[in-house]
Amino acid sequence: MIIVIGSINLDLIATVDRLPKPGETVPGDGFSTAPGGKGANQALAARRAGSEVRMVGSVGKDAFAQEALSLLAEGGVDLLSVREAHTATGIAVILVEESGENVIAIVPGGNGTVAAGDVAAAALAGDDVLMLQLEVPIKAVKAALEAAREAGSISILNTAPFMPEAADLLAMADYVVANETEFDLYAEALKLSGDDREARMIDFCTRTGRIIVVTLGADGVAAATPQGVVRATGLKITPVDTVGAGDTFCGYLAAGFDAGLSLEDALRRAAVAGSLACLKSGAQPSIPMAADVDEALGA
Ligand code: RIB
Ligand code: NA
Repeated sequence: MIIVIGSINLDLIATVDRLPKPGETVPGDGFSTAPGGKGANQALAARRAGSEVRMVGSVGKDAFAQEALSLLAEGGVDLLSVREAHTATGIAVILVEESGENVIAIVPGGNGTVAAGDVAAAALAGDDVLMLQLEVPIKAVKAALEAAREAGSISILNTAPFMPEAADLLAMADYVVANETEFDLYAEALKLSGDDREARMIDFCTRTGRIIVVTLGADGVAAATPQGVVRATGLKITPVDTVGAGDTFCGYLAAGFDAGLSLEDALRRAAVAGSLACLKSGAQPSIPMAADVDEALGA
């Protein structure tokens, strides 16, 4: 089973012609709400990929909570470990421009109350795959990585969003998944050496013995492993809205490991799923079903 310990948000999404500069006001031409949060998005992606998934997290006692959880519930993600906190439900304010580029601001609400007690209650087992991100308190993420090591479960840490304090946690996960920007920032924080990104990825892997996966946007994905660098590509597409693409990648990757796929096959399937998520707006509404990913993989 895949256990996701992470954030649950309601996304408030405005579409604009172009993203405003600081101090500027721009007109928008569309507004919608959709379930989001990196943890919840990854849980739904893993579920749509075909895995059994349990979500561990916290929502508020407000009207946003039910909408935030609606697609997880519909998709059959186990929500018994989602607590109600005495705060608001986490939200994300998202602006998406015509080109598909976006900016996001998050207010954690209930996500900020996720703690070591939630990790303990999750009772990780040796054959579980643990999926983490950085939208819940770092202390909880650290406790989860320790619990996974103790239980012998595979752990995957998605280092989004970039948190300087999380740099030391990277070496605690079996797999680290970062986008280019995040990886470059962590590489600086960890003083990784090498002339280019790939050399620094190899340096990370050599120093820690852990596998580092870096998503490269249109160029696909690369992973530095003790056996060498593995690459995979997604689909050639024109993005409509990239929100949720990284989470879709992570959820499908976790599901690939859960299903026993090779790293190469899991990366390829996840990259293709991530590409498909760029073709629709909204985080969770854009996560593809396994059948659509398999069809694209066959093409
Ligand atoms: O990764 C996309 C997600 O980031 C959005 O769903 C939003 O909630 C923010 O957490
Ligand atoms: Na999307």
